[in-house]
Amino acid sequence: MTAIYKRAFYRLRQGLMGSFITKPQPKPLVFLGAGSAIQLSQAIGQFGMRKILVVTDKPLRELGILDPTLAALHSAGVETAVFDGVLPDPTEAVVDQGIDCFQRERCDSVLAFGGGSSIDAAKVIALGSANNCKAAACIGAKKCKRPAVPFFAVPTTAGTGSEATFIAVISNNDTHEKGPVIDPSLIPKAAALDPEVMRGLPAAITAATGMDALTHAIESYIGRWETEDTNYYGLAACRLIFDNLAEACRNGSNLQAREAMALASHYGGLAITNALVGYVHAISHNLGAKYGIPHGLGNAMVLPHVLELMKDDAAAKLADIAVYCGMGKRSDPDATLARTLIDRVWELNEEIGIPLTSEAIREEDIEALVSAAIAEGANYPSPRFISEEECRGILRTIRG
Ligand SMILES: NC(=O)c1ccc[n+]([C@@H]2O[C@H](COP(=O)([O-])OP(=O)(O)OC[C@H]3O[C@@H](n4cnc5c(N)ncnc54)[C@H](O)[C@@H]3O)[C@@H](O)[C@H]2O)c1
Ligand SMILES: [Fe+2]
Repeated sequence: MTAIYKRAFYRLRQGLMGSFITKPQPKPLVFLGAGSAIQLSQAIGQFGMRKILVVTDKPLRELGILDPTLAALHSAGVETAVFDGVLPDPTEAVVDQGIDCFQRERCDSVLAFGGGSSIDAAKVIALGSANNCKAAACIGAKKCKRPAVPFFAVPTTAGTGSEATFIAVISNNDTHEKGPVIDPSLIPKAAALDPEVMRGLPAAITAATGMDALTHAIESYIGRWETEDTNYYGLAACRLIFDNLAEACRNGSNLQAREAMALASHYGGLAITNALVGYVHAISHNLGAKYGIPHGLGNAMVLPHVLELMKDDAAAKLADIAVYCGMGKRSDPDATLARTLIDRVWELNEEIGIPLTSEAIREEDIEALVSAAIAEGANYPSPRFISEEECRGILRTIRG
């Protein structure tokens, strides 16, 4: 197929997918502010849950951040079992262990407590447990008959917004390629955006995860599946991030900045669950799968490069963001505003210590990375397609 026919085919396929995905999706009930994880625990008791599986990772459990939530659940009359086997970018095997634990402990509900990795693992544990199946059987769009068991979430990073999306990303055990699990019941019944649980998040993770949220906000806003709702959330998230991310990195105990970032991350999730992402994610997912580069860090490094490529086709949208975030006047030319915004993204990366390059990337892998990223990117409603040559250029530039 010539490039022109291929691209027409991709746009048609995106249109068909869009008619399914861009339907308004349910939103979780949200508790916001310091102490909201405790409020959520009380609500879980009021919802009538008897025994909940708390899904988290070992480092978080050892830090003791989870303890007040466990105590609040017990006070609310909810028994708990803890599965702390989540690893970054969870695999099918990790999810299967969680499903076994849910069944062995005879739980009736799931609470994710952690970053995007814990939330995504918890989502598929809740879906697999309801359907008595393994993770592999859940991968794809709406593969399971029954909805997930009642599911709740407390994000402890401000980045993925996974507590707002109907997608979970699970890695293959052998290839580490990421596969999406898509199901409306993966949206939690309720979530707590509690800055208190993010107080000790190290600056480097705060920075990388915050740039993941900015990538969601910008990619959803400039993409072709935007709606009035997703545009609202995308713009609001951008402003919260430009105003608060550097401060949250400098002073992790500033709970106002932490709360603003938690809200921005949530808004980013609400935006991408309908409007999807773009080439930044297509490239960074593959860097994560190949080298284990953390999701937020990969996005942060790739974002300004992709924006440089999109600056003409998405000039009006990038200009909107710049104006909304106080970087210029509506009367300024779109191209000038778009330039200002992209420069601000470069500066923010520098201010929060995002590296320009990664030594993990090897020249001999670049062709395979280009093919995988271009194939994944064709599924996303980006303002324009990028060529293999352009993608190769980005990867060579960020190779250390
Ligand atoms: N489902 C979605 O909509 C969606 C969207 C974007 C990304 N994701 C997925 O999310 C995952 C990345 O999630 P992430 O960026 O939040 O990272 P993560 O969940 O992998 O956590 C990164 C590290 O931070 C530590 N950590 C988390 N909270 C902490 C805290 N409060 N204090 C101290 N340490 C803490 C964890 O222990 C872990 O070591 C990827 O697998 C990605 O594919 C999913
Ligand atoms: Fe992301």
